[in-house]
Amino acid sequence: MNPTVTESTETHRPAQLGKVYVETYGCQMNEYDSGIVKELFRKEHYETTNSVEDSDIIFLNTCAVRENAHAKIYGRLQSLGYLKKKNPNLVIGVLGCMAQNLGEDLFNQELPLDLIVGPDNYRTLPELIQNIRQGERDVQLTRLSRTETYDELEPKVVNGIQAFVTIMRGCNNFCTFCVVPYTRGRERSREPQSIIREIKELEAMGVKQVTLLGQNVNSYSYERFDFCALVESILKETTIERIRFTSPHPKDFPDHLISLMAKEERFSSQIHMPLQAGSSKVLRDMKRSYTKEEYLELVERIQKVIPDIGITSDIIVGFPGETEEEFRETLEVVNKVKFDMSYMFKYSEREGTIAKRKFIDDVPEETKSKRLIELVELQTKISLEKNLSKIGKTFSILIENTSKKSKQELCGRSHCGRMVVFPIPEGQSLDLSDWIGKTVNVVIEQATSATLKGKLV
Ligand code: SAH
Ligand code: SF4
Ligand code: F3S
Repeated sequence: MNPTVTESTETHRPAQLGKVYVETYGCQMNEYDSGIVKELFRKEHYETTNSVEDSDIIFLNTCAVRENAHAKIYGRLQSLGYLKKKNPNLVIGVLGCMAQNLGEDLFNQELPLDLIVGPDNYRTLPELIQNIRQGERDVQLTRLSRTETYDELEPKVVNGIQAFVTIMRGCNNFCTFCVVPYTRGRERSREPQSIIREIKELEAMGVKQVTLLGQNVNSYSYERFDFCALVESILKETTIERIRFTSPHPKDFPDHLISLMAKEERFSSQIHMPLQAGSSKVLRDMKRSYTKEEYLELVERIQKVIPDIGITSDIIVGFPGETEEEFRETLEVVNKVKFDMSYMFKYSEREGTIAKRKFIDDVPEETKSKRLIELVELQTKISLEKNLSKIGKTFSILIENTSKKSKQELCGRSHCGRMVVFPIPEGQSLDLSDWIGKTVNVVIEQATSATLKGKLV
């Protein structure tokens, strides 16, 4: 969940409307939404820019999931103050989950800020910008919608050969720790034909891999389509090489989704399935709707059908009331499942959530930190063991990019989602267009807890 600045395509437009710059924080859904915002402004003949210094309108598309997400935005807004002094016509807006979560409170903090707009109100942005330019001050729109899915905008959020496609918005689960149902509103699914149209256009742009996004993809529902039916239609109606998704909720993981993953080469056998906690008592207090045993049973069911499945997770330590024994249960489950990788967090109390109303945030910060360190150490050890066990095996890799370290090394993912790095063999083309987007076989020779390294077969 690091801040990312999403690439935008430059187009030549009449200069007087100005240049829009969007900076994205939080999850992939926010990255997709930043694409929606840029698309809306392009349609209104604004330019988009990747340079904050050179912009006339700055949007920070924010996250609210943990307190440090908020802290980052306060810092960033303060650091933008100098641009506002330089250019009094500059408009600065906060979008996304923090905008929805804090609303007009944000205006009371002496930040250089003109506009607060929540995730369901982006269509009105160009109009709100006009209002501000005509002198309106402190403009805010944070009405949640039960129907907005931005269907026809199809923003095509591409990063090399990979793209995100949001298939549903909102969440109805109300896990007690989580702010998302309040910032993103009720669950609603996007029309399958719009999703398929967008994927076809992505293919035409050279995209090989799409990641379908939703807070709980297993509750996708549009007329006769459930999530499996949607994936089956995408497989049938497009030739996209690889489909990934994030995230399913463990409470409703259908068997036919497992079989579809096992059967379809183009449907990645990788699951990001947040555990959150390993104690059934804590899971109940979190309102996750599964017990430790049910989670373990589900993993077993999946691993039986797809032995090489890649499973990753999100885990929270220090939820209210979590005892040392209950935390040990989390370690025990992590040890049993052996996740390939996990995102691990200290519980962060959020305004408006059920946990904030019902429980006291009583695990001391020091204990949370200690538990987090212990959990991260265990997960790193497991990731290393799992990666070491891959040495000698051959994987089919869809090449995504050059590696972070060297331009002469390529990287890509296996069918089960594992990142593999390998050098371009001596004497072979150094022209990246000869490699990126191709599928090749790589034999694994080395492993760290984070990556597999190998050579082309
Ligand atoms: N819808 C996704 C999760 C979205 S939020 C899902 O259910 O799979 C991403 C992750 O942030 C969550 O899985 C959870 O582990 C973490 N998270 C959410 N609220 C949190 C909080 N209040 N404190 C700490 N971590 C939190
Ligand atoms: Fe939050 Fe739970 Fe919904 Fe995920 S499923 S977004 S954790 S409420
Ligand atoms: Fe953050 Fe909102 Fe995503 S709270 S994690 S940006 S849904």
